[in-house]
Amino acid sequence: MKVALLYFSGTGITAKFATEIAKSFKKQNCVVNLMRIKRCLKFDLLKYDIIGIGSPTYSFRAPRLATKILRHLNFQKKPFFLFCTSGGMPGNTLWNLYKSAKRTGGFCLGSISGIGITNVRSWMPKLTSPKPKYWGLNHGDCERAQQFGDIILNRLKNINNLNIIEKNKKWIPKFQILTSIWSIFFTWRWEMATTVGLKHVDKTKCTMCGLCATAICPSGAISLTSSKTPKFNEWKCVGCNGCVNLCPVSAIWSLPSKNHHPYDLYYQFIVCVDETSIAKH
Ligand SMILES: Cc1cc2nc3c(=O)[nH]c(=O)nc-3n(C[C@H](O)[C@H](O)[C@H](O)COP(=O)(O)O)c2cc1C
Ligand code: SF4
Ligand code: SF4
Repeated sequence: MKVALLYFSGTGITAKFATEIAKSFKKQNCVVNLMRIKRCLKFDLLKYDIIGIGSPTYSFRAPRLATKILRHLNFQKKPFFLFCTSGGMPGNTLWNLYKSAKRTGGFCLGSISGIGITNVRSWMPKLTSPKPKYWGLNHGDCERAQQFGDIILNRLKNINNLNIIEKNKKWIPKFQILTSIWSIFFTWRWEMATTVGLKHVDKTKCTMCGLCATAICPSGAISLTSSKTPKFNEWKCVGCNGCVNLCPVSAIWSLPSKNHHPYDLYYQFIVCVDETSIAKH
């Protein structure tokens, strides 16, 4: 059986969650392909039997960049499942992912959500030594993810014996009206400005290497000026903090992330995956 795991991830927590879920499918001898959603990437989903779709929570919903890209994909009526990570309040994230996938006729086999803490919030500790240990994906959620594949494969196996309509309803994520109202009013620039802050570049530190603009931004929000320093289009920015973590000299900051530790999982799960594209520049 072939499984596609499509996920958006800004700082690596959802990417880690996806790799834990992948392990559970691999244990059952499935072939699993992990694909990070990024602007301009194309995905051929025809050859897969099950599709997993995941994202972090940004302001109580799935990042708009992710749902925008997902809306252009054809899930070919395949069975799918959903996963998300959040700081503890996922809101409508799973519902948004569900709507993006359901559109092309497949059926939902269930969902899982995990909790992860990153360096983007103002209440995280400022630079200290040693680094705080609690950043990352919650350990219990990691373990649950490693069993999630069994649950999904069992459901798929038994699906013919079940009343599909009735059972399917239980597996569909719930829609929350209040968080959806929040999402209507706090969108794009204002959502990002209030949640993660506008980006600044310390020109005295910037070495003009161009990596932030060319290698990492998932939304194409960074361009280089004629003097080779980055310029931010906050309308396009999804607030993932990838550039803040990537910059080799910590020249990029926003108010909430100022003087906070760069996030380690980011290097393991985002930079390494994109290593080849970074090496080109
Ligand atoms: C812009 C932004 C908005 C966020 N909004 C929420 C939120 O509304 N609720 C929540 O529980 N966590 C929120 N978080 C935390 C992330 O959802 C969480 O840390 C997630 O695991 C990050 O995953 P990633 O590393 O794959 O990007 C937000 C993070 C960012 C960057
Ligand atoms: S990655 Fe950092 S040093 Fe390189 S261009 Fe961007 S801000 Fe400047
Ligand atoms: S500008 Fe930085 S924070 Fe905004 S989407 Fe691009 S990499 Fe993420």
